[in-house]
Amino acid sequence: METKQILNTKGAAEFLGVSVSTIYRMVEQGILHPTKTPGGQRRFTTAQLQEFNEESKSIVAPQNPFQQQRLKEKIQEALVVSAEEEKPVDKRNTLNDLNGSKWLPETKSFFYQKGLGSSHPHAQIERQHPAPFSFQDIEHLVNFFTKHGMKVLDPFGGVGSTAKACELNGRICTSIELQKKWNDLAKKRLEIEVGPGTSQKHEFLLGDSRKILKNMPDESFDFVVTSPPYWSILNKEADYKVKKERLAHGLATNYSENDKNDLANIKNYQDFINTLVSDIFLECGRVLKTKKYMCIVVCDFRNKSEFISFHSDLIQAINKKKTKDGGMLSLQGVKVLLQNHKTLLPYGYPFAYVENIHHQYILIFRKDK
Ligand SMILES: C[S@@+](CC[C@H](N)C(=O)[O-])C[C@H]1O[C@@H](n2cnc3c(N)ncnc32)[C@H](O)[C@@H]1O
Repeated sequence: METKQILNTKGAAEFLGVSVSTIYRMVEQGILHPTKTPGGQRRFTTAQLQEFNEESKSIVAPQNPFQQQRLKEKIQEALVVSAEEEKPVDKRNTLNDLNGSKWLPETKSFFYQKGLGSSHPHAQIERQHPAPFSFQDIEHLVNFFTKHGMKVLDPFGGVGSTAKACELNGRICTSIELQKKWNDLAKKRLEIEVGPGTSQKHEFLLGDSRKILKNMPDESFDFVVTSPPYWSILNKEADYKVKKERLAHGLATNYSENDKNDLANIKNYQDFINTLVSDIFLECGRVLKTKKYMCIVVCDFRNKSEFISFHSDLIQAINKKKTKDGGMLSLQGVKVLLQNHKTLLPYGYPFAYVENIHHQYILIFRKDK
């Protein structure tokens, strides 16, 4: 392999046979010293990585010739250095730090969900929460809808996936979470998975978002990204999958027991939608700056035998609605997040069509005035 090649963070991770977050940690701890592109992206020379490799052979893991070959191929795939990708960011681009070739793939209407895998050491905190999203998926959104240093809000912060995505990409997060146990875990997660002191760069507000948002000033965030409770689906009786994947490991199956402020405990679906939209999403719209975006990650679900198209109900309830500061939220697109890794279960077989719902939707709204 040539010694002058330049790799991005993913390429460096492939090169050393470690995870992307390990690379972030190594940078944070001063073990690796990347350069930065004009757009703020990290770049590593293979010479530097090889040097590190020599010193610490235990990190690299090509155990057999096949793995070695595959690793080489993956590194080739991850090589960044096409002149196209190094092109500067357009001066008129006030939205993000991406140049044209990085911008374009992010406009595709679907992407495949990417996670660390449940056995990864950095998936253990996330796993305790019954419905986290993947910080790696959120990184795409954070990097597309903000520039370095901008402010991001998540009104359903959970165990801090948005905060982690922000920390890893130099954005500042305000995370609001009702339950102390998830809020505490979110802070701990940053300290453990990204580095000591990193949780202090972000706000982790404990309480009911409906109240907290009301006290926030208009137009104070550059981006909102979140995933709300999917009504009361976590309160259903545990099915085979929940028993196997969560109860058997002593993991929580809902956000709270009977907390009346937990939106997942609202009994009636229409009341739930009304509260979610007027008290949360329109308030998020108010605290969002004009011309900025809000992404909501949701999934459709079944309530007994009824199929509930939660994503389309939310679109109908939010699209073209006014915020209290005179703004309006309008739908800009719906991205499908494919979960092709999920296990297929024989629901309905051999009698009826019962869907294995293996995708999420990302509803993308913009605030205009
Ligand atoms: C789908 S989860 C979000 C998970 C988060 N995206 C993550 O990756 O950890 C929804 C979260 O909303 C929280 N929640 C429910 N009602 C709330 C309220 N009124 N105010 C703030 N948080 C609330 C729940 O405790 C739960 O953690």
